[in-house]
Amino acid sequence: MAARIIDGKAIAAKVRQEIADEVSEFKAQHGVSPGITVVIVGDDPASHVYVRNKERAAQQVGMEGDVIKLPSGTSQEQLLQTVRELNADPAMHGILVQIPLPDHLDEDAVVRAIDPRKDVDGLHPENVGLLFGGQTRFAPATPQGVQRILVEEGVEVRGSHVVIVGRSNLVGKPLAGLLLGRGKGANATVTVCHTGTKDLGAETRRADVLVSATGIPGSITGDMVKPSAVVIDVGTTRVPDASKKSGYRLVGDVVFDEVAEVASAITPVPGGVGPMTIAMLLHNVLQAAKASVA
Ligand SMILES: NC(=O)c1ccc[n+]([C@@H]2O[C@H](COP(=O)([O-])OP(=O)(O)OC[C@H]3O[C@@H](n4cnc5c(N)ncnc54)[C@H](OP(=O)(O)O)[C@@H]3O)[C@@H](O)[C@H]2O)c1
Repeated sequence: MAARIIDGKAIAAKVRQEIADEVSEFKAQHGVSPGITVVIVGDDPASHVYVRNKERAAQQVGMEGDVIKLPSGTSQEQLLQTVRELNADPAMHGILVQIPLPDHLDEDAVVRAIDPRKDVDGLHPENVGLLFGGQTRFAPATPQGVQRILVEEGVEVRGSHVVIVGRSNLVGKPLAGLLLGRGKGANATVTVCHTGTKDLGAETRRADVLVSATGIPGSITGDMVKPSAVVIDVGTTRVPDASKKSGYRLVGDVVFDEVAEVASAITPVPGGVGPMTIAMLLHNVLQAAKASVA
């Protein structure tokens, strides 16, 4: 295997330690703890696991981490009322409504109801606009995690050609916005691919840094990667696995063994981008708390 395997867990641990240090400084200075409330509607087991992990991670760095669990029959108005109450609560600096919501609820309307200064998911239109305008307030956590991995690994992003496969509002588009910026870990030439891209392999083979976020296991093969490229696999798909206690395992988009022969560095799944997501969410909560006292 030629590629260096990027240890996302270790980078995330470093980021969390930095945040824990800053949180204790913040508390000492201002006498308040940065706080995040996660709102979850319904009983999707995977979402409950994610929410518990976020609550625990917040508490581990010294933040207030709360969860509001609402039944699956919650009405749009009840959910909006919960959001309004959190908007008005000065002890809560970050609000996150766990997505996906049950079908009868309008996700976009809920995101728009969150006070943009507490929108630590970075999905409110005001925050999307600020990111693309070069004045980022909150970038969504996963793309921020990808950028931080590149910085921590010493990957030269400036002037590089980054190809992103996937154009979701959560990953592909905000990552393009971040890497098009002028700061550290940015200034790249960015191509964003999707299902309308004519010849995906021709695009990905031009990448110095290839980021895949399709959610389709096996969609990036060795012949799609330029020798010595850096490959970041955002994809996380549960596939049944009877040998696991949980009954499933997580796989990425990338055919790991094949691509690791060609790339110079690669993130594994699990243990690559995944751990960075919660770390960068905590980073956003800390930024929200700092802004609230500025
Ligand atoms: N590690 C983490 O913390 C984390 C966080 C967020 C997401 N994820 C994972 O990342 C993956 C993507 O998430 P998402 O929310 O961005 O998913 P999404 O909303 O389903 O978007 C997938 C994107 O991939 C594109 N795509 C799918 N198949 C393709 C193909 N064969 N060729 C080219 N483009 C293709 C789609 O194109 P169209 O737009 O044309 O349909 C779409 O833009 C999922 O596996 C998700 O679980 C992981």
